[in-house]
Amino acid sequence: MSETLLYSGKAKDLFSTDDPEVLKMIYKDQATALNGKRKEQITGKGEVNYEISKLIFAYLSQQGIETHLIKNVSETEQLVKKVTIIPLEVVLRNVVAGSFARKFGQPLGQRLEQPIIEYYYKNDALDDPAINISQATALKLVTPTEVATIEAMTKQINTLLIKLFNEIGIDLIDFKLEFGRYQGRLILADEFSPDNCRLWDQKTHSSLDKDVFRQNKGDLVTVYETVLQRLTKMIGGSTNV
Ligand code: TMP
Repeated sequence: MSETLLYSGKAKDLFSTDDPEVLKMIYKDQATALNGKRKEQITGKGEVNYEISKLIFAYLSQQGIETHLIKNVSETEQLVKKVTIIPLEVVLRNVVAGSFARKFGQPLGQRLEQPIIEYYYKNDALDDPAINISQATALKLVTPTEVATIEAMTKQINTLLIKLFNEIGIDLIDFKLEFGRYQGRLILADEFSPDNCRLWDQKTHSSLDKDVFRQNKGDLVTVYETVLQRLTKMIGGSTNV
């Protein structure tokens, strides 16, 4: 199989395959914070993120959300549909945390009356600036119709995942998604792992996500494995992955 590295991201690499419609995505043992300015190798991170994302994507797919995942290949490798990525990071917040708490001086942990959706322009040279829909459509990053689909899918995914995490004693605080164009439709791309969401244990209120790395609060792999074990118990047997 001829494989060429097409894109090397902070946590994953993307390779071409013999099929022009299919890419190979490999999860890396790398953790970054401060938009890539802090970088560390963490053995086992790629594998645990792969396992978590695999379960979540299979679960979402079962619930009717189309994703780019085709097939899981090995402990860190997946085959995915080749999409044209919309260059927006779509963040949904259920509870005040992170940059929202800092920017607006809001109390950490306060539940928001309605989920909030924010957008960031995926552009490393510009440090992924916040962007609004008016700006994003003016820059032709996305069309108004696509925005409506992205918002509806993001809210639907939120409802499904709040319920799933609730069943394993975890509050879904916030998360980031990416979408891609595929055969005239928008589908869920990238990954869903504790690297790009905030998960708080309902009993202890401790972080079960990348905040343990950002804030040096514990061992990342141990914490991510807790999430994986609970998810596996809940949906591991039913997702057919
Ligand atoms: P924030 O509070 O730092 O803005 O992050 C909100 C959520 O989005 C949090 O779950 C982490 C996730 N996120 C990413 O996955 N990648 C990013 O580049 C950013 C800024 C946030």
